[in-house]
Amino acid sequence: MDAERVTAQVLATKKYAMMDVDAVRRVCRDACARHAKTKDAVKAAKTALHGMNAAFVGDGAHQAAARVLAAAGPGLLRDKAAALGLLRLHASSAERIAYLDEVCTLIADCLGQGRTLLDLGCGFQPFALPWYPRLPDAYVAVDMHRQTVALLNDYFARIGRPAYRALVCDLGADIPAFTGDCALLFKLLPLLERQRKGGAMRLFSRLRVPRALVSFQLKSLGGRQKGMLTHYAAWFERELPAGARIIRRAVVGDELFYGVEKALPLNPENPD
Ligand SMILES: C[S@@+](CC[C@H](N)C(=O)[O-])C[C@H]1O[C@@H](n2cnc3c(N)ncnc32)[C@H](O)[C@@H]1O
Repeated sequence: MDAERVTAQVLATKKYAMMDVDAVRRVCRDACARHAKTKDAVKAAKTALHGMNAAFVGDGAHQAAARVLAAAGPGLLRDKAAALGLLRLHASSAERIAYLDEVCTLIADCLGQGRTLLDLGCGFQPFALPWYPRLPDAYVAVDMHRQTVALLNDYFARIGRPAYRALVCDLGADIPAFTGDCALLFKLLPLLERQRKGGAMRLFSRLRVPRALVSFQLKSLGGRQKGMLTHYAAWFERELPAGARIIRRAVVGDELFYGVEKALPLNPENPD
C-alpha cells in the first residue's frame, strides 16, 4: 500500500492538517504495515494522531489562543489572567492550573543555576511563565503541532525574549539530540512509548541534559483513576537507562513527577 497516499489523505483532514508532516508520515507508514486496506490504514493513522495530539486540544483552541495573544497588553509576561486563558485551552495544562505554583517551583529547582530549559512535547505549558520563580535565560519548546509552535513563537516575541523559541519536531523519530541544562518531559513518555515500543527511553537516552523533570498524568482524560500511579512508577523506574538516577519523586495534584540526574550520552546518535 502507498504510505504517501495515506499520508496525503490524513493531511487533507482539517484536524490533522497542521500536524508535523514527518510525524504524520511516520504514523501512516506504521498504519500501512498493519492494515491491508487504505481505508483501514487511514482510520488507524487518524486514531493514533488523535491520541498523540488532537485529544488534548479542542477545535478552535488555536484560534482562541491567537485572540488572547492579540488582546494582551505589554505586561503579558506577568499577566496571569491572560496566561490562564491560554493554559485552559490545552487539556494537559488546564489540568495543572490548580497546582501551577508547585510545578513551577519544581521546574526552577530542576533548572538550578542552569541557563537553558528544554520543554519536549510542550503543548501550552510554556504559557505558564508568569508562575516561574526565576525565568530561564533560554527556553526551547518542542511540539509536533505547527499551530501550537507558531503561537508559542508569537508569545515569546510579545514577551520580548529573543532566546526563547519553539520548534516543530517529531520526537518519536530518531532526531538529533537536544542540548540544554534541564529537560521537561511532561505527560509525554507514555505517548511516545505507545507510538513506538522503546521510543520513550530512546528519546530520553539521547538528550544531552544533566537533569530532567518527567511527569505522568494520574487521571485519564475522562477523569477516572485507574491505578496509573503504580503502573507509571513501576514502568519508569524499571525502564530508566543506566547512568540516570532519580533524585526526587513527588505527587503534585493529579501528576507524578520525577527529578532525574542523567549522564550525558557519549554518542547521542547511538546511545545503545
Ligand atoms: C499530553 S500532552 C502534554 C503537553 C505538555 N507537556 C503538558 O504537560 O502540558 C502531549 C504533547 O506532546 C505532543 N506530542 C505527542 N507526540 C509527539 C511527537 N511524536 N513529537 C512531538 N510532540 C509530540 C503533543 O502534540 C502534545 O502537545
